[in-house]
Amino acid sequence: MNRISSLAIYKDFNLKAYNTFGMDVKASDFAKIDSEKQIPELLREINGRNEKVLFLGGGSNVLFAGNYEGLVVHIATKGIEIVDQDDEFVYVSGMAGENWNDFVQYCVLHNFGGLENLSLIPGNVGSAPIQNIGAYGVEIKDTFYMLDAVSLKSGEFREFSNAECRFGYRNSIFKSELKGQYLILSVTFRLEKKPTINTTYGAINEQLAMMKKPADIRSVAEAVINIRTSKLPDPKEIGNAGSFFKNPVISMEKFLSLKEKYPDIPSYPSVEGVKLAAGWMIEKCGWKGYREGDAGVHKNQALVLVNYGNASGKEIVSLASRIILSVNDKFGIHLEPEVNIV
Ligand code: FAD
Ligand code: EPU
Repeated sequence: MNRISSLAIYKDFNLKAYNTFGMDVKASDFAKIDSEKQIPELLREINGRNEKVLFLGGGSNVLFAGNYEGLVVHIATKGIEIVDQDDEFVYVSGMAGENWNDFVQYCVLHNFGGLENLSLIPGNVGSAPIQNIGAYGVEIKDTFYMLDAVSLKSGEFREFSNAECRFGYRNSIFKSELKGQYLILSVTFRLEKKPTINTTYGAINEQLAMMKKPADIRSVAEAVINIRTSKLPDPKEIGNAGSFFKNPVISMEKFLSLKEKYPDIPSYPSVEGVKLAAGWMIEKCGWKGYREGDAGVHKNQALVLVNYGNASGKEIVSLASRIILSVNDKFGIHLEPEVNIV
């Protein structure tokens, strides 16, 4: 370990506990940030070395294909604050290293509406804008107000408004033009003081009816948590990073020709065209429940690739490539990974 004032740099650091896929890999250098006071020193460290840098929150959307030759920086800054309010809205800010679900449940408990459908998504507040996390009919862009970030190159601190983040389906400016250029420090949401609930995603209504509870944001959060725990594998038990691929968005023309051949193909309206369910297509190609060594396709959700214990990143990538090929052969659709492969 090399300690220069407040920033400790660890050599050959094992990352198994820092990624939900459970990859047993090492980072050549590793640092942890738990205070914004460490930022100037971190930036000097980053700019002083000619090496790759990877920020890591909960590690729930990354797949390490091998050891990481470079500096991994785990963001662990904590804090939740009400920064402003008016008659209608309350503005709640979370530090980047705050656990996302803890942040959501804080808002639900205070009856601040807008994030309840995003309950139980793994990861941290600072990573949520990177792919505009979404679930059960809601994306963070719907309540996102602004974020604070620092440029790695210039050290300049700046704010990004909702429009400046250029949010799209599982996308933002931080995954495209500005990829790897900013460290997100905190995120502020504009939430409703008199919440309106969103149960457009069918399964929520069914779950609420089963729960026999009043339709408020606490019940919606509970319903979402129940649905998620019944469908998605818990990374503590089976390594995974949620949906491995994005759901493809295609033109109406292409959709209508697919629908002729596959009348039961699930589809959802989307601003860019028609969104298809990648999990359905992967299942139709016969991959659901497939296992090869410790790499596999989850038995209840074909969109989730899993590590049963000792799979390597390369084995998961190889499986993903074969799934892409077979979906392309059968449906003429190219699947793109949602997970960041590093
Ligand atoms: P990490 O995996 O640590 O990082 C993700 C990316 O963000 C990396 O490129 C990293 O370098 C970058 N990054 C992280 N922190 C910062 C920062 N402070 N500044 C700049 N860059 C940063 N996602 C959904 O959208 N919807 C879901 O329903 C959903 N369900 C999931 C279910 C399971 C079981 C799992 C395992 C994952 C699921 N995901 C889902 C994916 C994942 O939870 C989200 O993408 C989440 O936002 C990742 O957060 P993280 O802190 O773990 O990010
Ligand atoms: N389906 C199958 N077989 C499968 C999986 C799904 O036929 O093995 C069908 C379902 O029956 C349903 C449709 O596909 O008709 C959609 O399935 P589901 O509702 O489970 O959602 P998804 O499209 O597989 C998306 C997100 C999830 C998010 C859920 C709920 C993406 C890539 N995935 O999954 O996000 O939690 O909707 O909103 O958009 C993530 O991003 O990591 C993630 C888990």
